[in-house]
Amino acid sequence: MRGLLPVSRMTSGRGRRRSAAGEPAVATLVPMCGIVGYVGGQQAIDVVMDGLRRLEYRGYDSAGVALVEAGSLHTAKRAGKLANLDKALAHEHPVPATTGIGHTRWATHGAPNDVNAHPHTDAAGRVAVIHNGIIENFAELRVGLERRGHDLVSETDTEVVAHLLGEELSRHDGDLVAAMHGVCRDLAGAFTLVAVAAADPDRLVAARRSSPLVVGLGDGENFVASDVSAFIAHTREALELGQDQVVEVTRDSVTVTDFAGAAAEATPYHVDWDASAAEKGGYAWFMLKEIDEQPRAIADTLLGRMAADGSLQLDEMRLSDEELRVVDKVIIIACGTAFYSGLVAKYAIEHWTRLPCEVELASEFRYRDPVVDRSTLVVAISQSGETMDTLMAIRYARAQRARVLAICNTNGSTIPRESDAVIYTRAGPEIAVASTKGFLSQIVACHLLGLYLAQVRGTKYGDEVKAILDQLHRVPAQVQRVLDDADQVRVLARDLAGSTSVLFLGRHTGFPVALEGALKLKELAYLHAEGFAAGELKHGPIALVDIGVPVFVVVPPRGRDAIHAKMLSNIQEVRARGARTIVLAEEGDDEVAGHADEVIWLPRVPTLLQPLVATVPLQIFACEVATALGHDVDQPRNLAKSVTVE
Ligand code: AGP
Repeated sequence: MRGLLPVSRMTSGRGRRRSAAGEPAVATLVPMCGIVGYVGGQQAIDVVMDGLRRLEYRGYDSAGVALVEAGSLHTAKRAGKLANLDKALAHEHPVPATTGIGHTRWATHGAPNDVNAHPHTDAAGRVAVIHNGIIENFAELRVGLERRGHDLVSETDTEVVAHLLGEELSRHDGDLVAAMHGVCRDLAGAFTLVAVAAADPDRLVAARRSSPLVVGLGDGENFVASDVSAFIAHTREALELGQDQVVEVTRDSVTVTDFAGAAAEATPYHVDWDASAAEKGGYAWFMLKEIDEQPRAIADTLLGRMAADGSLQLDEMRLSDEELRVVDKVIIIACGTAFYSGLVAKYAIEHWTRLPCEVELASEFRYRDPVVDRSTLVVAISQSGETMDTLMAIRYARAQRARVLAICNTNGSTIPRESDAVIYTRAGPEIAVASTKGFLSQIVACHLLGLYLAQVRGTKYGDEVKAILDQLHRVPAQVQRVLDDADQVRVLARDLAGSTSVLFLGRHTGFPVALEGALKLKELAYLHAEGFAAGELKHGPIALVDIGVPVFVVVPPRGRDAIHAKMLSNIQEVRARGARTIVLAEEGDDEVAGHADEVIWLPRVPTLLQPLVATVPLQIFACEVATALGHDVDQPRNLAKSVTVE
């Protein structure tokens, strides 16, 4: 038995998959990281490694396997690409086992290194477990284990589970199923777990809550995986587990129970995708999958951020409350879509903290001789954490003695490493070049920062912070409603696919939404699109309005009557000049209906949170126009996912 294991997580989006033909298919849960388990007659190492390779495109930062043979566990794990693990295994000549598990990790907690790679084991080496998700109560569980004499060596929540399973195995005379039931009942959060026990070489046991797990049903062999692409080469008969279920797998049997141990039902289905479609969970594009994953990305970014007393807790915030209290200015720096999330955040940060908040393009920031000093908090927003413009900007800021906080989706990447503090978004790997779930989770992370600053600086009372957190916790369901009602946008996209110019208007937080909607259309459909502050229209851009020009208008929620009334005037101005007005407005806002050629209704949310629902139809619109034009939606021409040059 070798090695020790890290935390990992998976987000999953239960979205409507669309086949290449665009027909809705069976809804599916599609994970972010790689989990594979096997029990059968083949060499487990071959099946597990082949399965991990099929999940490799998702991106990850470490990988590992555990094999069960002759009463002992054999594990190998390495940071970095799967090739590193391959090399280690070639060197170590894996044992001839027919039961094994494997994992590729997309780190969110804990550095991506060998210690933090999966699988994790208990101290006695009796059980190995792999895990995707976030165990919200792992810190208190860890304290309990350490009080009972357990010595945990990694920073991860997964190792806590391994030790808990070891304890439960002792309580249940080595019964791994009973042990899994016992542990799952104590866990809070979202997780998929797969475990094997040294003393039980013909079985694996898995469990899931709010994180996908599918079973592959073979002939004399069975599989578990985070998605079917890991075993589609062996079988197309699958079983999708439901919420809070445990599955016991041997080579000839699959038994499903609930966490209390009672018999439960899982959903059998036949996998009709090809391997490529399987990688995208049956979606035509990664971008469609990632758009559908946005409710989960938001929910995961919020997970574990609220203490028992309702106050905000940001574990990664390595700046002390005193350091945050002396901040007298916030400067957000970013590029592209990340820059627009900063523009959205500005409204909330200034409103909640009463701190001036500037938002700067990273490529411009250090050339304008900005006023930056020890009291400046520079916030660098970056999905990849490798954007060179942003990296150079924070190096400049640090040289000016500013404190730097990163908001990033990629654990261990350069920008958070070179920052004083970090708030990780938990959107999972974003494969499509066009950022979608990265954008929404950046906005949420910025809101968490704004609330934290307000809490520390006393500009918001605890009940006010909690009230806003409660509003944020309602957003995933509201975004899901927009996703479920998106057929209108798809029909509109096909109708407008021949447009040569599309304009986007917004005010207040709707202005950055207009900019982002235009950027999505530019980078995916390669057509002229421009976002404007609606108040600027009369200062020039209205000359662009002509008969039939589509103009999207983001109308702020009612309650901000000054800007709402002005927005209605702007709609009339462009409509009077022949524009085709497509208005995004909150449901019930009947005033807009009389001015719009088409209304896309949005769930009612507070003004500062409206970008989280208003952006989604514009993402879908751009994606569908690009599809209608026959473009490669995931890899648009001339673009890279991470721009690592200046
Ligand atoms: C977004 O759709 C684009 N792919 C691009 O604007 C991106 O947001 C920008 O390059 C910043 O990338 P980062 O978030 O990884 O720093």
